[in-house]
Amino acid sequence: MSNTTGMANLNLTGDDGTVPTEDEVNPWEVHASSATGVDYDKLIKRFGSSPIDSALLSKFETALGQPPHFLLRRGIVFSHRDMDQILALHSQGKPFFLYTGRGPSSEAMHMGHVIPFLFTKWLQEAFNVPLVIQMTDDEKFLWKDISLETARSYTTENAKDIIALGFDPERTFIFSDLDYIGSSPEFYRNMCRVQKAVTFNQAKGIFGFTESDCIGKISFPAIQAAPSFSSSFPRIFNSRSDIPCLIPCAIDQDPYFRMTRDVAPRIGCPKPALLHSTFFPALQGCQTKMSASDANSSVFLTDTPKAVKDKINKYAFSGGGATVEEHKKNGGNCDIDVSYQYLRFFLDDDQRLEKIRQDYSSGDLLTGYLKKELIELLQAFLKSHQEKRKAVTDEVVKQFMTPRKLKFDY
Ligand code: TYM
Repeated sequence: MSNTTGMANLNLTGDDGTVPTEDEVNPWEVHASSATGVDYDKLIKRFGSSPIDSALLSKFETALGQPPHFLLRRGIVFSHRDMDQILALHSQGKPFFLYTGRGPSSEAMHMGHVIPFLFTKWLQEAFNVPLVIQMTDDEKFLWKDISLETARSYTTENAKDIIALGFDPERTFIFSDLDYIGSSPEFYRNMCRVQKAVTFNQAKGIFGFTESDCIGKISFPAIQAAPSFSSSFPRIFNSRSDIPCLIPCAIDQDPYFRMTRDVAPRIGCPKPALLHSTFFPALQGCQTKMSASDANSSVFLTDTPKAVKDKINKYAFSGGGATVEEHKKNGGNCDIDVSYQYLRFFLDDDQRLEKIRQDYSSGDLLTGYLKKELIELLQAFLKSHQEKRKAVTDEVVKQFMTPRKLKFDY
């Protein structure tokens, strides 16, 4: 593995109080040096991925006979690896599958986590393909101060939220690492193949592990790599090892899949393709991502209407003027305004969003009104989500999490 894959280029040193000169983006930390957030163009170059340009968007439209999802059109899903190959496969009627995941670190997921799942759901419906969702409860046990039992219980709670987003049980398999790996020799064999193909030095270069990290962390990347290979799911893919995989995720997860793509040909498997999204920002501003470990930075799926209102009004960083007069004179800055940025992720009406952008930028729309629009949108989303989640019983979770054939034949 060389620098040409971008593997050894991550700056993973912890925050020592100095002002970072380069954005930090890795599975454990996201920090941008600019108020407008991570410089994603630079990141594409550093990670060696490809930008999603208008030519690729047209290919999407041709392949699907419908406009690409607004997250693609707005550049929120901004980068990819080999997506053109997946579109070519689809147009030839050849199969592929989707793989995404969640590290259940807390009982409640936040709005940022919802983005890749909503996008994955759209992909699944548009392409009509199987989806596997990995719940890395083992990862959270290794990284956090929680017991195995607690991590496993968070898997169930988080799976309820994921299911409530509307996934189809006939096309979707959700699995807990703690449960599934022990029951699936094929999955374990792929883990072993990956473990043998990556040295400790390479793992240190990619993930920044140190001598004092427990050995569970060092071998964990093989566990996140294994679902990229169809042979890890023999019931779904009739033991075939040649079905290509597409992984939608935010770009923080890319180090895992740079490693996976490097290893894949060496173990006789197709390289997974990727679609990367940008980060849903923390309430405090675009310099960091929304993170479950900081309750005040996040809007959770469990938040009450009042909590949403209070959090947005109190914490959502404003790009508006300091006074009404100043705002009316100079206008607001949408690039750094967290409420506007959240609307970009959740308001699907392009015309309405553009009108808000123009009116806020010109100063006609005040911060209070912008926040009100966002609060109402989030409250409606959460009300509907919380109702749907109530209908997700333990039985329904069991249905999604039982290893089984899905509705596709191979
Ligand atoms: P986790 O639980 O940290 O995140 C789950 C998914 O949400 C994305 N994400 C975000 N997207 C937008 N804005 C944010 N603020 C934000 N925070 C998190 C993540 O990129 C991820 O797509 N190790 C993984 C679990 C995993 C996985 C995978 C994820 C296992 N296999 C395959 C993606 C694809 C984790 O802890 O994700």
